[in-house]
Amino acid sequence: MDQKIFIFDTTLRDGEQVPGCKLNKKEKIELALELEALGVDILEAGFPISSPGDFDAVNEIARLLKNTVVCGLSRAVQKDIEVAAEALKPAARRRIHTGIGTSDFHIKSKFNATRDEILQRAIQAVKWARNFTDDVEFYAEDAGRTDNEYLARVVEAVIAAGATTVNIPDTTGYCLPHQYGEKIAFLINNVKNVDKAVLSCHCHNDLGLATANSISGVINGARQIECTINGLGERAGNTSLEEVVMVIRQHQQSLGFYTSINAKQLNPISRKVADTMRMPVQPNKAIVGANAFSHSSGIHQDGFLKDTTTYEIIAPEEVGADSSKIVLTARSGRSALAYRFQKLGYSFTRNDIDALYEVFLQVADTKKEVGDDDLHTLAKAQQEKTVTA
Ligand code: KIV
Ligand code: ZN
Repeated sequence: MDQKIFIFDTTLRDGEQVPGCKLNKKEKIELALELEALGVDILEAGFPISSPGDFDAVNEIARLLKNTVVCGLSRAVQKDIEVAAEALKPAARRRIHTGIGTSDFHIKSKFNATRDEILQRAIQAVKWARNFTDDVEFYAEDAGRTDNEYLARVVEAVIAAGATTVNIPDTTGYCLPHQYGEKIAFLINNVKNVDKAVLSCHCHNDLGLATANSISGVINGARQIECTINGLGERAGNTSLEEVVMVIRQHQQSLGFYTSINAKQLNPISRKVADTMRMPVQPNKAIVGANAFSHSSGIHQDGFLKDTTTYEIIAPEEVGADSSKIVLTARSGRSALAYRFQKLGYSFTRNDIDALYEVFLQVADTKKEVGDDDLHTLAKAQQEKTVTA
């Protein structure tokens, strides 16, 4: 039987940390409702102690969402946890996400502490959070660069203290996919109470590996992925929700996983997030980029027009994208040209297309893309030639 991978969306927290992406309360609420409709299992609505505005937004989202677990971030600090608990109070289902840095970089440089002191702080934070909810997630910040033996001690201790999910963030996006997978496997094999909690992947994209690392994490035993729409997040961003969801869907048979995400909403919500957060999506972005379903070279176009599966592994309608595009450039071929003329209502013979193609190439060499206006001009000239011949 396929196993569920829980999708924890942090667009409104890690994604919102991106400079320029700050949301006001109304925008946050609108996106939270759309994310719930998308089917995310857990929504990290914000960091309530960070500002009164964020407290209010988390509080209102907690009031409005019906099925999704609403989560608030906190440091391993009593006051943070109390404020997060207060903000989340109205939620039908609430989670406190608390944690602390566990790598020696963090322990020494950030906290000037020892491993044992950090371990104690982690335990105290989880115990404190459990006073307010029985759904507590602990994050071991910079777990990607944390020594595995020590990480296993921390994970075991926080589960014993009551954590029901343990987040293993690759905070700096440092790990290679096999290393991140091995880290998760190490925890599964060495933490004796690991079956009492869900391990979660929270991967950053500094080396472009966030999606690969998250998938490696679930292959090795994690059951939750933390991600954002369009991969927004600190620096180079977080794991992109649309990518992990579609990897899991495309490879469902071999991986044996599924998610509860409504894939048809992926493109609409990507556009909504890009507009609301004022952060355009790169055109070549997987699943939601403007070129994700465009074909422009002659070889690809010819194959695609014979059978779409030659060059598309996902049908655009499956992810709510506009239909595939045949883009005309100087690299396009005759079949693409004939197809575009046909779409504009012209029916040309093979000989006509041969003649048109020569003129088309001259035009195409002068511009990046040949558009419908150019095609009408070419078609009219060809029709006149045929009439006068
Ligand atoms: O990247 C990270 O480690 C985080 C934690 C706060 C979960 O965002
Ligand atoms: Zn993060």
